[in-house]
Amino acid sequence: MYQIYPRSFADGNGDGVGDLVGMRERIDHLVDLGVDAVWLSPIFVSPMADFGYDVADYCRVDPLFGGDEAFGTLLTALHERGIRVVLDWVPNHSSDQHPWFVESRSSRSSPKRDWYVWRDPAPDGGPPNNWLAQFLDRPAWTLDEATGQYYLHLFLDRQPDLDWSNPDVEAAMHETLRHWMERGVDGFRADVVHLIGKGRELRDLPEELRGMTVVAIDEPFTHELLRRIRSVLDASPQQAMMVGEVYLLQPGQVVRYLGAGDELQLAFDFRTVHVPWSADALRRVIAANQAEFAEPAWPTFVLSNHDQPRHRTRFGSNARARAAAVMSLTMRATPFLFAGEELGLEDAVIPAARVVDPDGRDGCRAPLPWTDAPDHGWPADAWLPFPPDAGRLAADVQRRDPTSMFSLYRSPLRLRRERAVLRRGSFELLDTGAELIGWRRVHGADATVTVVNLSDEPVDLPAAAAGVLLASSVAGRDRLEQQLAPDEAIVVDVAA
Ligand code: GLC
Repeated sequence: MYQIYPRSFADGNGDGVGDLVGMRERIDHLVDLGVDAVWLSPIFVSPMADFGYDVADYCRVDPLFGGDEAFGTLLTALHERGIRVVLDWVPNHSSDQHPWFVESRSSRSSPKRDWYVWRDPAPDGGPPNNWLAQFLDRPAWTLDEATGQYYLHLFLDRQPDLDWSNPDVEAAMHETLRHWMERGVDGFRADVVHLIGKGRELRDLPEELRGMTVVAIDEPFTHELLRRIRSVLDASPQQAMMVGEVYLLQPGQVVRYLGAGDELQLAFDFRTVHVPWSADALRRVIAANQAEFAEPAWPTFVLSNHDQPRHRTRFGSNARARAAAVMSLTMRATPFLFAGEELGLEDAVIPAARVVDPDGRDGCRAPLPWTDAPDHGWPADAWLPFPPDAGRLAADVQRRDPTSMFSLYRSPLRLRRERAVLRRGSFELLDTGAELIGWRRVHGADATVTVVNLSDEPVDLPAAAAGVLLASSVAGRDRLEQQLAPDEAIVVDVAA
């Protein structure tokens, strides 16, 4: 699955912001890369206080991205090339400009008042509980002077929380899923979906958890809601899927959101998004991910997204990013790629005057360079600066170069397509010594071993990796050597 941040992918109409026409013009890039599906970060009508994660109409595409018509055309074009389409669905909160909230806010007796979470002030006039808003160093409640009550917003004050304990809200949100499923969408990525079942009690959090309110809410009611969402998805002819952003960080917490196979199909495990380039740390995170998402569950594997520094930046070198590609694409998991990682992009350096995100996440959201011309294929000044080395890393340049990051990504992606063992094979971590991590996957008579050298020195190839080289992160390597180079990852066919 390939995540596209629509504002930053490709600009079709020359206004400096990426759009759906631009995406359609770049479908060849996705096909050549070899991805199965794209997830588009939010494209719905939005005032863009959180760049689309503040939705003002769940059933219409924002004109900035080309509107409904451009989406219909893009969806057809992607389906024709065999690529499925997953939309970002933001169920926990809407925009304060959504007509539901405008009405809800209008008076205490509004029929939509209880679509959002309104509460009287605490006895001292302050906020109703001690929760803090993400991105803001202040309470998750804003007082509406006109009606004398506070509304809850776990994120910006322009992102009021919907009240999912109200059956009318639940029904209306189910309708938004049906709307897109009827148009042929294949699935959804559900934004901070663990928060929707916060319920009616809204108890204070222990003092030490207040600063992490959005990762501390984990309520049984959410599971009930997810089972009903799953029924809505399963009722679609295409059996639409849902991957959830379940931003919980304690061992075993996230997998519970797959229920007994009757809640989310997939959920992100964000431990991999924070892990440093260290054999110990990676081994621990991979072991935990695989153990918690053992059969019949199924894990995801994600190194980068639109909320965190890119792993090319985090890991600190191109060689490491290349090894990470072989690692993530040979894992027992659904790998999620973040657009631009196949070009080896680093985060852009954003001068203070150009910072636009309320949480400073602009660097990883920099536009993709398509050509080495000065405009990099963006007809107007792009909304954010380009990443470092944009000319050298431009997609057109890399396509022509068999040693490029783009060419590297194609190889394990092709292997994964061709070999069931890399998709469905079992998974066993190997004991490969301190500097290496390695695993073996078996499917019928096929077996592969992946080994990654995380040290700065060459290391002898472990016996378990004897076989035929299928891919290496080191450009030009076409057969197994006695040693793995520093930061090299290989995948080997070890079948008898
Ligand atoms: C999720 C999104 C993030 C957004 C937030 C609020 O964490 O990934 O980009 O700002 O939810 O919707």
